[in-house]
Amino acid sequence: MSQNPPSKTEALPKPVSISSGWIAFIILSFFSVLAGSIVLISPLGPAIRNLFSWLFGLGAAQSATWYVTRAAGIVAYLLLWLSTIWGLAISSKIFDRLLHRGFTFDFHQLFSLLALGFLALHVFILMADSYLPYSLAEVLVPFLSPYRPFWVGLGVIAAYISILVTVTFYLRQKISMKNFRLIHYTSLLGYLGATLHGLLAGTDSSLPVAMLMYLVTFLLVIFLLAYWLLMLWLSKRPQPAPALAR
Ligand code: HEM
Repeated sequence: MSQNPPSKTEALPKPVSISSGWIAFIILSFFSVLAGSIVLISPLGPAIRNLFSWLFGLGAAQSATWYVTRAAGIVAYLLLWLSTIWGLAISSKIFDRLLHRGFTFDFHQLFSLLALGFLALHVFILMADSYLPYSLAEVLVPFLSPYRPFWVGLGVIAAYISILVTVTFYLRQKISMKNFRLIHYTSLLGYLGATLHGLLAGTDSSLPVAMLMYLVTFLLVIFLLAYWLLMLWLSKRPQPAPALAR
């Protein structure tokens, strides 16, 4: 018995959208981290830190918060990178034959939101660290950091750019498409700032595995950026006039 072949629309995967549950989860996590950080910088902070050191068997020279902030920084970097390459792949229409645009766009937004969540963890835990506690001003104002002020300052600027770009995902209807795109292009500067920040402010950057991570991720962005620019140039090139029918 012969069956009709599936139509082109049936063959496409069903679009998914980030449910309000996900957004609520991310917002809730953000405020939990905020509340946790406030407790850590309160008078209760030292007792809680001692409890963590005891629970995880950390000596006096080691600080659990220092590990958490560094790990969160690396996860935030990887999520930001994922969002950047995903965005470049969407713009270059790389996914169009495989996945529905609604699906790929939602993932792009999700990676940006998750990056902001880990960025919040990175920064708030830094304020609670006993080894090098950061003040609110040092976290919010670029180049005020007591440690490697320039490279940490680049991280602060990258954080502002990432927040701006992510927020405008939800303001697309209110700002024009032209403004949305212009703001979105700055995300490449945000990614560059975050890369230089991680590489030149990070303790782990001297490790071969960290250097390899920055190198491979950065080169992939450069490759996709070049591909996107090439596709853009090809699409803008004047098309040759069709040959006249005899
Ligand atoms: C998009 C924004 C950001 C990303 C992706 C990011 C990511 C990272 C990464 C990957 C590291 C290296 C971790 C390591 O090697 O151990 C790092 C280190 C650091 N970041 Fe950020 N960061 C961002 C924003 C910020 C902000 C706003 C601050 C606020 C002051 C900050 C403060 C620091 C500090 C002090 C270090 C050095 C920690 C260490 O010694 O490893 N970062 N960051």
